[in-house]
Amino acid sequence: MRIIVVGGNGTIGKAVVDVLKAENHEVITAGRTSGDLSVDMTSPESIEAMFQKLGAVDAIVSTAGAAKKVNVEKMTPKDLHLAVESKLLGQINLALIGQNYLRRGGSITLTTGIMKDDPIANGASSAMANGGVAAFVKAAAVDFTRGIRINCVSPNVLEESYDRLKDSFKGFVPVPASRVAAAFLKSVAGCQTGQEYQVYH
Ligand SMILES: NC(=O)c1ccc[n+]([C@@H]2O[C@H](COP(=O)([O-])OP(=O)(O)OC[C@H]3O[C@@H](n4cnc5c(N)ncnc54)[C@H](OP(=O)(O)O)[C@@H]3O)[C@@H](O)[C@H]2O)c1
Repeated sequence: MRIIVVGGNGTIGKAVVDVLKAENHEVITAGRTSGDLSVDMTSPESIEAMFQKLGAVDAIVSTAGAAKKVNVEKMTPKDLHLAVESKLLGQINLALIGQNYLRRGGSITLTTGIMKDDPIANGASSAMANGGVAAFVKAAAVDFTRGIRINCVSPNVLEESYDRLKDSFKGFVPVPASRVAAAFLKSVAGCQTGQEYQVYH
């Protein structure tokens, strides 16, 4: 398969690229400043330009998306923008625009996260975006024809990120990136649609 991984040079992305390449797939990575192709998924024009360069693919994977950590009591409407533009709309626009470049039987796999199910302090903005992406995936799956599938992966905090994030995730038992990557492989190479693969253990 020919697969685009947006965020393919990130912590999760690298593990996903490794597992896909190990299965002999052709993997193209993209990011704002990293990867084979340049894209800023907060801009629909940038997404369209990336797909114009890329051409047809069999799978679209997103392991990208940012949000601001802010306590709700101090959160302003502006603080929400990053999560809405990046994690939520960035990924959904990738699916909407990308579907036009997907071959018959292709798939879309997006990233959410445990914060929507197991809240942490200052995580409401991220949780909102995660929940929105998961709901979109579940509902969008029933609309797609041509055998097109859509799923998302909801990782726990990663072992590889735990040093950086441990103060926010006390008591969470991190999971290895390789286990998260396996869920992406299940989505890309499997037959299920409308699923959220929760990699919490
Ligand atoms: N790490 C964890 O423990 C963990 C756990 C659960 C969920 N998540 C979620 O999983 C996603 C990836 O996490 P990560 O830890 O792998 O992040 P990361 O290491 O920071 O990697 C993010 C990747 O996405 C790309 N990216 C960021 N913003 C982009 C944009 N607007 N357009 C295009 N590419 C963009 C980055 O490349 P450029 O800088 O070149 O754009 C980078 O390759 C995030 O949404 C995160 O919240 C992470």
